Amino acid sequence: MPVPRSILGTQGATDMDLEVVAGAWPDDVRGHYVVSASDQRTRPRHAFFGDGIIARMPLRPDPGGRFPWRARVIDTPSVRLRGKRPDLFTAGPVGTDSPWGFVNAANTAPLPWGDRLFATWDAGRPVEVDPVTLEFVAEVGHRDDWRPAMDHAVLPLVSTTAHPVVDPERGCLWSVSRDVLTGAVSVIRYDGTGTRVHRWEVEDAALPQATHTITQTRDWLVLADTAYRIEVEEIFGGDRTAPNNPDGPVLLIRKDDLLPGRSTVACTVFRLAPEVNHFYARYDDSDGVEVVMEHGEGVDIGMYLREDDVDVYGRPIDPALRGMYCHGMAPALTTVLRFDPETGRITERARARDPERWWQAELSAIDWSIEGQTAPTRHHLVYLGFHPEAVNWRAMRNYAGRVDPALFPPEETPAVLVSHDREDLKALS
Ligand SMILES: [Fe+2]
Repeated sequence: MPVPRSILGTQGATDMDLEVVAGAWPDDVRGHYVVSASDQRTRPRHAFFGDGIIARMPLRPDPGGRFPWRARVIDTPSVRLRGKRPDLFTAGPVGTDSPWGFVNAANTAPLPWGDRLFATWDAGRPVEVDPVTLEFVAEVGHRDDWRPAMDHAVLPLVSTTAHPVVDPERGCLWSVSRDVLTGAVSVIRYDGTGTRVHRWEVEDAALPQATHTITQTRDWLVLADTAYRIEVEEIFGGDRTAPNNPDGPVLLIRKDDLLPGRSTVACTVFRLAPEVNHFYARYDDSDGVEVVMEHGEGVDIGMYLREDDVDVYGRPIDPALRGMYCHGMAPALTTVLRFDPETGRITERARARDPERWWQAELSAIDWSIEGQTAPTRHHLVYLGFHPEAVNWRAMRNYAGRVDPALFPPEETPAVLVSHDREDLKALS
């Protein structure tokens, strides 16, 4: 199946009343489905950088048998300012700039916390929305507490994670703030009320590229450098010429060391290859700190497709794919790793690599209940398949020697959803 062109369409946030047209809706499913998306109507250069849409659908039908899908562009200060003066906002290769600062797109992942709901972004504070009306409530925490990576009066650029975690026992949200020039990183704690967040600078460590994900156990926070390189030349109009780093540091920080009266915290540093994107720790750490690592080898989602690009086979890229991220150039690799903070050593517990399963970059699914996090049994992954029409030659050039075109399937392959055993990563279905 080709990359669906509709996901790059400009229909925006559309309400729909959906109905089951085939099969049967399960009786025992309840709650709501909530998803974030990127509004393409502002024509971002990279499809990732459109304004945040949040959509919600109940998992029980209404009395008429319909499922009301409701979607809103989140009415953040960034969106309101752009609404007033669209002419002063400029789409660039790493986001949208303006005289007021940098747009907080809040379009990456919904984060529920009890009966509250947040939308996240890697280059802005989490945004709280009303879970019923989907209206904007607030950006989390005073900007000064976060220490913006680029300080603008109204729209500061806060370099952070799109996947902060809610601590089920300490009743707080853990996030990070990163200096984009030095890679120095701080831990952020938000207690859920008030306008302030706490920040601790992590001593003697740096995450050079990005911090897309963080994860936690009962006693530890796990931070890692994630594979998303910002190239200064590209920001100033040049081409993207370098691949992501092939490895990077992983930092373990003991939660008990994050003391209220202090402004710094120590960490244990590990070195990990290949590079990673999403990762998930088992909350129970009585046997050690164990993390499912979804590696991002042969994947450069910072690379976006241009109208003048050619694909793997030298064919012009379909203009309808303009702005889509470059798709994966390697089979997916997933591992279960155990980190020992005493020795600084990493032990591999399990590994999944099947050439039939081509790359994963989208968010996987885990059971986020306290029981599910403490003793996880399944890890669900979407493998997107091989899509040569969405792999550009510029990426192939940058990854020469790092990806093996001999592994490329003879033609496009479909996406596959796999439920893995969480212990040994065997495919269960
Ligand atoms: Fe993500």
